Amino acid sequence: MSPSAGFERMWSDLAPIGRSARSGGYFRQPFASAERECHAWFVEQCEARGLRVESDPVGNTVGWWEPEPGQGQAVLCGSHLDSVLDGGAYDGPLGVVSALAAVDVLRERGFTPGRPIGVAAFVEEEGSRFGLACLGSRLATGAMPWEKAAALTDRGGTRFDEALSSAGFPADPDRVAWTELRDRIGCFVELHVEQGRDLVDRGAAVGVASAIWPHGRYRFEFTGQANHAGTTRMEDRHDPMLSYAMTVLAANKQARLAGQRATFGRVDVHPNGTNAVPSRVTAWLDARAESPQHLDVLLAAVERLAAERADRDGTTVRVTAESVSGEVTFDPALAARIAAHEDGDWPVIPTMAGHDAGIISAAGVPTAMLFVRNPTGVSHSPDEHAETADCLVGVEALADTLERLAGS
Ligand code: GLV
Ligand code: MN
Ligand code: MN
Repeated sequence: MSPSAGFERMWSDLAPIGRSARSGGYFRQPFASAERECHAWFVEQCEARGLRVESDPVGNTVGWWEPEPGQGQAVLCGSHLDSVLDGGAYDGPLGVVSALAAVDVLRERGFTPGRPIGVAAFVEEEGSRFGLACLGSRLATGAMPWEKAAALTDRGGTRFDEALSSAGFPADPDRVAWTELRDRIGCFVELHVEQGRDLVDRGAAVGVASAIWPHGRYRFEFTGQANHAGTTRMEDRHDPMLSYAMTVLAANKQARLAGQRATFGRVDVHPNGTNAVPSRVTAWLDARAESPQHLDVLLAAVERLAAERADRDGTTVRVTAESVSGEVTFDPALAARIAAHEDGDWPVIPTMAGHDAGIISAAGVPTAMLFVRNPTGVSHSPDEHAETADCLVGVEALADTLERLAGS
């Protein structure tokens, strides 16, 4: 089978797994059945290529192509297989499938790596279940201590270590550190669908990342007084929903004024009854900005406006940072080397989306990202898309990159 036919075959293998018949979007939450099925499929694909499969104690999995033992530091590629709730097909899986297809391209070219090439699938990149973005790569690089990760809970109260045990991973703290990954790899390249329209505007099928904006997730807990929706006069209420609603508007305004990003995409209301003023509203702010200073200013403004509003409403608000990802500047020399292309260089562009590549870069490993054009720019949505022809250009670009980086 040609590498392009192989790519399409792999893509159609994955397509039905975890797809909602209603929305067409994907629900591949970590350690739940659809995501486990994707991982089992990944292991099969690695084994079919004769790659040596290694999983760490939290489920991050790498298929190693190592023609000779002891060849030195590896070139790692790959991405993740989990999705956001009702997510698109491409965010994550495109990087994993393209990495396997790039191995096929290199073999068809008769290339033998001068150092190991690893194809990785990291777990819980989206933080859709345990709230912390890039949990798998944070653990794999030592950026997150096991004890802290173990105690994270999902929406149903299941702890991370319990979820791991029920997926067949023994929760043995001594085995959890896999930080040698950081020392075993010389560089990491993650291919990803673009989550914006920059490449469309530039007329390029592929681009290279320059940087990732710093970003974070912050839990806002508004507490008020539950009361009767009919008998409580409007002026007598302590309504946390009102404090929350005004905070959403304030966050949106602050982000617009500053040219940054602020999103409330998740909310829990207690007791969630139509005919009662709620007692508590918990909402999560996703904030992103061009620099850590801009992020601090944005967050401080939203917190201040939330507190002022809570004061007026006779409610309270408490803010907790759940997941913070620092600013990432990718290795400029590596980016330039990857962008160099005989028909004109690929554009080098920043992104506002978080990635395992950001965590691995922050761990001191030279890291790069390739983006594949997304016609609408829509992502974290069933409408996310990339044309097959562009995906195949991405596979070739990744194969060229691996050939340059792993050549003898
Ligand atoms: C990950 O995709 C993120 O940026 O939230
Ligand atoms: Mn992703
Ligand atoms: Mn994502």
